[in-house]
Amino acid sequence: MAGQISQRFIDDLLARTDIVDVVSERVQLKKSGRNHSGLCPFHQENSPSFTVSHDKQFYHCFGCGAHGNALRFLMEYDNLRFPEAVEQLASRAGMQVEREGGDDPGAHQRRQKREEGVNLLELASRFFRERLALGGGRQAREYLERRGLTPEVIRDFGIGYAEDEWEALKRYLLQQGISEAVQVEYGLLVHREESGRTYDRFRDRVMFPIRDWKGRTIAFGGRVLGDAKPKYLNSPETPVFHKGRELYGLFEARQANRQLSRLLVVEGYMDVVALAQFGIRNACATLGTALTSDHLQRLFRLVDEVVFCFDGDNAGRQAARRSLQTALPAMIDGRQVRFLFLPEGEDPDTLVRREGREAFEDRVTCASPLSEFLFEQAAEGRDLKQVEGRERFVTAVLDALKRLPEGVLKSLLLKELSVRSGIEQSHFADWLSTHAKPAPSVDDGGYEALMVSAESDAEAGSAMAAAADRDINRPQRGFAASRAGTATLALSLPARILHLLLHEPGLAETLPETLDWCPPEVPDGRLCRDVVQLLRAGRYRSPQVLLAHFHGSADGERLDQLARRELAIPREVRASELESWVRHLQRESERLTPAEEYRQLLAKSRQPGALSAEEKQRLRELIGKLTAGS
Ligand code: CTP
Ligand code: MN
Repeated sequence: MAGQISQRFIDDLLARTDIVDVVSERVQLKKSGRNHSGLCPFHQENSPSFTVSHDKQFYHCFGCGAHGNALRFLMEYDNLRFPEAVEQLASRAGMQVEREGGDDPGAHQRRQKREEGVNLLELASRFFRERLALGGGRQAREYLERRGLTPEVIRDFGIGYAEDEWEALKRYLLQQGISEAVQVEYGLLVHREESGRTYDRFRDRVMFPIRDWKGRTIAFGGRVLGDAKPKYLNSPETPVFHKGRELYGLFEARQANRQLSRLLVVEGYMDVVALAQFGIRNACATLGTALTSDHLQRLFRLVDEVVFCFDGDNAGRQAARRSLQTALPAMIDGRQVRFLFLPEGEDPDTLVRREGREAFEDRVTCASPLSEFLFEQAAEGRDLKQVEGRERFVTAVLDALKRLPEGVLKSLLLKELSVRSGIEQSHFADWLSTHAKPAPSVDDGGYEALMVSAESDAEAGSAMAAAADRDINRPQRGFAASRAGTATLALSLPARILHLLLHEPGLAETLPETLDWCPPEVPDGRLCRDVVQLLRAGRYRSPQVLLAHFHGSADGERLDQLARRELAIPREVRASELESWVRHLQRESERLTPAEEYRQLLAKSRQPGALSAEEKQRLRELIGKLTAGS
């Protein structure tokens, strides 16, 4: 039976494919500098803003924000599912698709090795936590206490301590049967070339585990207790850790919030932890790197609003400018980015301690929206009373707007620019097309930031492969099995709604504004709410991408299961079916309030012998519940 398409195969396939060829077969491209450009096939346009980079093996449209690798291009252009796109590209390259567990004997081994790595980091994390609690961790505990951290926050973030020893962790891991080579590969052990000796990378440091979205430790950051240099030491890049992609504290933020709607991005580990200590549990940090578009993608997968905190000094403003440029192409409608500048000399850690939670939250509330920062930025150092100053101002804003995807935000900003500059809006349209600069070269830092790294897209690709492999519209494997004995009627209402939405995500738009109708405590209720919210946010229009979002989690398995079921409801009546289910749920949830149920049972109990044993039991429960609450 065909398994998942192996990641290695996808990598090989992409390595043997030139995206320029694939795109050229469908879109007329012209070479311009190091890139190729043409009219974007994904939106209506008269001047070319669609570019294909041979070096990066990516396409990107500055008009609509469409971007991706060769596989993504085929999926979008030919409207293929992921496995179909892989098949098509493979046959073009004369390759045979390899599937995991099937005809690829190396896959199992690689997976095992990866598991070993993750397992090893988990072991190390536990080791550090234990050391913090023991006698040797006294100084570290005192240090954390001085920095105002309580045991609760130390526990939530899994903070530990690496002793001042050269081989403590190494010895422990060897005892657990983990070879030195693996320890080196995952960055815990340093190998000295000259002497051939190995020693623990982290010594006498407070250890912050960096966790992936599932909570598995994938790397560490370690801080010295005193003033030694370097202040922070991070794990190197390893098979499971790429710091341009990871954010510290994301997992913890998700753990602490059932519904995240906004994320704060700060600079340091201690900022994240200190904010959490003060009850602000939605902060995360980049790991000593500038914000990348990978980071942004990750953030916007979780929330619609991101607030960046920057130091108030020059370096902070510089970082903010770069982040603005990185954020522009990601600003599809419904997403929000804001900029918070801290007073000079403060970081979120010092500020929240000095001012407290509320004052800090007020600052977040008042942070400049992207539009405001953009205008402010474009006006900086320019005299807008003079024609020249105004011209530069307009140019700067328009340059930024060119990087913004088409949408409401862009039109609003154009309107605003017209008001601020006194130039009629119709001129901008002209300007945007006739003065359109050729796409920046690949060497341009801005463009660099725009292009999602090939690696990360491969990752997204494999998630999609995994999801799409269990092809949802044409169920193959498991279809017969799932059909037998599981008629649609056996599903709960939220499950039925999920099932329908998985086949036709667009229907989410017809659902009521608030989610009250979907009780989170019934089976599949919470998941249903999550899915509806995601669809509402407008990020996922295709079932595959929706499945990819949940891939690897229990929710993901549940969704896969539902997606594999055949949908027997004809298209014309789906919307009305959905509406009736929702109405039914609404009525049900109304009936389910304990007080009403109690009154009903009570009324019924007045007729002798009317209550069944279960109903009597239920009545007793309700009385207990209602009196406990008062
Ligand atoms: N950083 C790093 N390596 C360093 C210094 C800093 O990776 N040698 C990263 C860390 O992620 C750190 C962030 O940059 O958290 C901010 O650094 P800095 O402002 O110097 O430290 P703080 O976070 O303020 O740390 P602390 O409050 O513990 O002094
Ligand atoms: Mn600090």
